[in-house]
Amino acid sequence: MNYDNLLIEINNSVAKITINRERKLNALNKDTIHELHKAFDNLNLNKTVKVIILTGSGTKAFVAGADISEFADFDVSQGEELAQKGQEILFNFIENLRTPVIAAINGFALGGGLELAMACHFRVASDNAKMGLPEVSLGVIPGYGGTQRLPQLIGKGKAMELIMTANMLTANEAKDYGLVNHVVSIDELLPLCEKLANRISKNSSTAIASAIKSINASSNENGYHVEVEEFGKCFGTDDFKEGTSAFLEKRKPNFE
Ligand code: COA
Repeated sequence: MNYDNLLIEINNSVAKITINRERKLNALNKDTIHELHKAFDNLNLNKTVKVIILTGSGTKAFVAGADISEFADFDVSQGEELAQKGQEILFNFIENLRTPVIAAINGFALGGGLELAMACHFRVASDNAKMGLPEVSLGVIPGYGGTQRLPQLIGKGKAMELIMTANMLTANEAKDYGLVNHVVSIDELLPLCEKLANRISKNSSTAIASAIKSINASSNENGYHVEVEEFGKCFGTDDFKEGTSAFLEKRKPNFE
């Protein structure tokens, strides 16, 4: 499938989606959001793809936010619909995928860009990256899950400060805050993400899907219950039989 705003590459079991609007710092316009939905949906259904890496084209921006030119004249109900639809088809959609998604933050991740990175399962940044939620400087608030995911990742007090000041964090500050897991040079960014993806792809995909579901439920009241259910389901899978047999037979598992 061809996309106007995305580049897709699949290498063995690792897929890479590159948002390709470099001239606009990869800002998320409506078409890009729809294309991202399609691309994630297709890759998630592709049984050969075990991990997805999401990045932006160029070395300046991951994503500089939602495309401001598209919503500057919206009214109340259009604003609400923008957030609702975006959360449904892209941000919550990514968070709840069975396939793990790593955000490779290669530059500015602002507003909707940071919200997109936060919807991914974890984040790696290059040392030139800058991250923030500057929406209040535009008279609006984060609408793609930022007010929920940022406090979950860095704590309520730090999230309050970051959102109220509209300040940007450097990559190393973001690492200190727990927002990104690793900071490397821009040349090392994709190789490190690929290395992590290859490591993940050796493990059981069915177990990883259950882990994602359980970890996502950690912010719900019934998180422990979801974990019990997903744990139980694993016992009915071929991967569980293969993983435990391989251990007992002192060999490497071969997950289909
Ligand atoms: N929406 C729409 N267009 C955007 C954009 C966004 N969020 N962010 C950048 N662009 C566009 C600019 O309008 C410019 O387009 P043009 O060349 O046609 O004029 C192009 O991308 C390059 O951006 P520019 O601002 O010239 O680059 P810069 O190096 O001077 O500044 C930033 C970089 C990231 C600091 C600046 O682009 C910025 O503040 N962007 C908006 C960030 C934001 O508020 N995001 C939250 C949105 S809710």
